[in-house]
Amino acid sequence: MITHIVGNRPQFIKLAPLYHELERNGYEQNIIHSGQHYDENMSDVFFEELGIPAPAVNLLAGGGSHAQMTARTMVGLEKELSDQKPDLVVLYGDTNTTLAGAVTAAKLCIPIAHVEAGPRVHDKTNPEECNRIVTDHLSDLLFSPDTVSLQNLEREGLGAKACMTGDIMYDTYLSIAERPTQSQETQSEDIIVMTWHRQENTADRGRMESILDLVGKLESKVICPLHPRTRKCLENFGLLERAKRISNLEMIDPVGYTEMVRLMNSARLILTDSGGVSKESSYAGAKCLFMLELDVWEDLVRDHWIHKFNPENAASVEEALFFAKKAQRVALADRPKYYGDGHAAKKMVQELRNRNLI
Ligand code: UD1
Ligand code: UDP
Repeated sequence: MITHIVGNRPQFIKLAPLYHELERNGYEQNIIHSGQHYDENMSDVFFEELGIPAPAVNLLAGGGSHAQMTARTMVGLEKELSDQKPDLVVLYGDTNTTLAGAVTAAKLCIPIAHVEAGPRVHDKTNPEECNRIVTDHLSDLLFSPDTVSLQNLEREGLGAKACMTGDIMYDTYLSIAERPTQSQETQSEDIIVMTWHRQENTADRGRMESILDLVGKLESKVICPLHPRTRKCLENFGLLERAKRISNLEMIDPVGYTEMVRLMNSARLILTDSGGVSKESSYAGAKCLFMLELDVWEDLVRDHWIHKFNPENAASVEEALFFAKKAQRVALADRPKYYGDGHAAKKMVQELRNRNLI
């Protein structure tokens, strides 16, 4: 039995291709949902759209502080994994659900495969960095999405457990983008797509105001599917009404992946603090303004595809506005290609077999 442990929006998107590939190969598997994301449009919609079966169990561990959520997930997982005794646990990305899965499975001596291993922002004040480091070191097999991530793992002495598969989100992206109803070559509608949810950009009122100020200065319509964390923080800081008054900003509820791909494929620019969305921008052909100065997707930064900036620094904001003004959609043939060929799931199953983990 292979048990996938997931709980967050980007993890459902990463789970789909691997689940389907294992199914095609006849493996017995199930899904444990931590409940970290629980709104219909943050969870169920992805299962429905991507054809993933309902989780065997939902631990309902969402909400609260990092420690509360992680601890609730660990307690729930310990019971489930002890009962189920899977042969392998598969973990995804860098969230508290991932961390809880790694610590719990390792202590029950269950082998772990980690999907999207190796990215490093080189800053432990970033909660995801802590989760990823622990998970990578406790896992038995590490699937890295790009060469930079593989090199990070090698530098940490984890090279023997690691292999480069490419980004599994690209598998999912292509499965949607190549549908006849979608177009990767769509003409720009002069739209900027924005996502905004990281702790660093939502914990402080002044920081949130700076981001709203920047949005108001952009010379295009900005469509922002608003993460529930960000909506709550805007409300708590008394900034939601102000955000609603920004004439070029359209805040909408979080969207399913099909709609998200359509939006990204028609944008001329993506403004985000999301790890996943900043990488997907290169699939969708829209350059990316990244609202944090962390080390993300270094190849895309070097190519000036991703421009990182500090929303609280006037000079940095001016540079960001200049980048935004120039940004135009990039044709399919001219997009950077650092994250594999869209067949990551196949490579993962092959590698799991080669190493006798399934
Ligand atoms: C989490 C991950 C982050 C990832 C993101 C993907 C951690 C530390 N963070 O951040 O790495 O980029 O998921 O989106 O694991 N909420 C709802 N409904 C939901 C989900 C969340 O209302 O369906 C609210 C809750 O009040 C919750 C808050 O949003 O307390 C934050 O959610 P949480 O899962 O803690 O963090 P994310 O910002 O989603
Ligand atoms: N996404 C989505 N709907 C939305 C916003 C994002 O489907 O309303 C997708 C996005 O395209 C990407 C994933 O969710 O595939 C990224 O999730 P998020 O930004 O929440 O997390 P991160 O990647 O930062 O961990």
